[in-house]
Amino acid sequence: MKSYGELRDAGTAILRDAVGSAADDPRWEATRLLEVVTGLSRGELVRRRDQVVEIEAIADYLRLLEERRRGVPLQLLAGHVDFHEITVRVEPGVFIPRPETELLVELARADVASRLASESDREIRILDLCTGTGAIALALAAAFRAEPRVRVAAGEWSPQAVRIARRNAEDLGLAVDVRRSDLFSAFADLEGAIDVLVSNPPYIAPGETLPVEVQHDPPAALYDPEGGTGFHRRIARRGRDFLRPGGMIVLEIGETQDEETARILNEEQYREVGRERDLTGRPRFVRGIAREGGVVPSMRSS
Ligand SMILES: C[S@@+](CC[C@H](N)C(=O)[O-])C[C@H]1O[C@@H](n2cnc3c(N)ncnc32)[C@H](O)[C@@H]1O
Repeated sequence: MKSYGELRDAGTAILRDAVGSAADDPRWEATRLLEVVTGLSRGELVRRRDQVVEIEAIADYLRLLEERRRGVPLQLLAGHVDFHEITVRVEPGVFIPRPETELLVELARADVASRLASESDREIRILDLCTGTGAIALALAAAFRAEPRVRVAAGEWSPQAVRIARRNAEDLGLAVDVRRSDLFSAFADLEGAIDVLVSNPPYIAPGETLPVEVQHDPPAALYDPEGGTGFHRRIARRGRDFLRPGGMIVLEIGETQDEETARILNEEQYREVGRERDLTGRPRFVRGIAREGGVVPSMRSS
């Protein structure tokens, strides 16, 4: 017989003592897993700390602690993750949205807000490529939930991720048009109509050692067979056809890819090319503005 308080303390000790445990904050994580198995909030768990826990919940809790000890990400064990102002469902086989990507949402959100203010009645269209769970597209749709002029579309190649993204949209009651697409392939109807093009594509070069925190993400979400910036180049190049003149592209990048991706955007004729840093000062995003009048034909190779 164990109480909620005893169980949380035991879980904290298990995570703390685990050799190679990925838990940064064992007490916080132990409490989080207890929330998952009991369906109770953190506050409720504190209130019930002396109450006895049902035997089934204890068995589930021990199973999750063991998986966490083996390095399974907390978000996968919980089945969902908080991202920007929404919560999205995650499952093994689909990329787990990361907090740093919330900054990409903020960059796009600010840009959309200024477009709404300066354009009196036109629709503002956002396209998120490589959407995974739909996190970026859904966070933007949520930010502009009350603004019918904002339309959000999202593309993703993995059928599993497409299913999750659609389900997330449904659960959140957000009208995001999620399509299975190899980058722009399913979006011919939006050519020339996009105001803000966003993406957090795969950007790890083949053979590069994976940081431990991404080892549970699917390889197709991480690796770029073209050396790390191939997706950025393809999106920037074809993006010129999809963006309206003056439209913005903003891409997440690996922290050593800022010079190369800025060069790509310049080569692809974007103006006002700039890099944005995350909260720790590392360059993690590159952005640019589509010029008036299209691309110089000789620059276009695909
Ligand atoms: C780094 S993950 C990012 C997911 C999501 N944007 C996020 O930030 O959480 C990259 C995503 O690109 C998808 N992807 C890979 N190749 C693709 C392609 N050719 N077209 C569309 N999506 C692709 C992967 O399945 C994966 O979901």
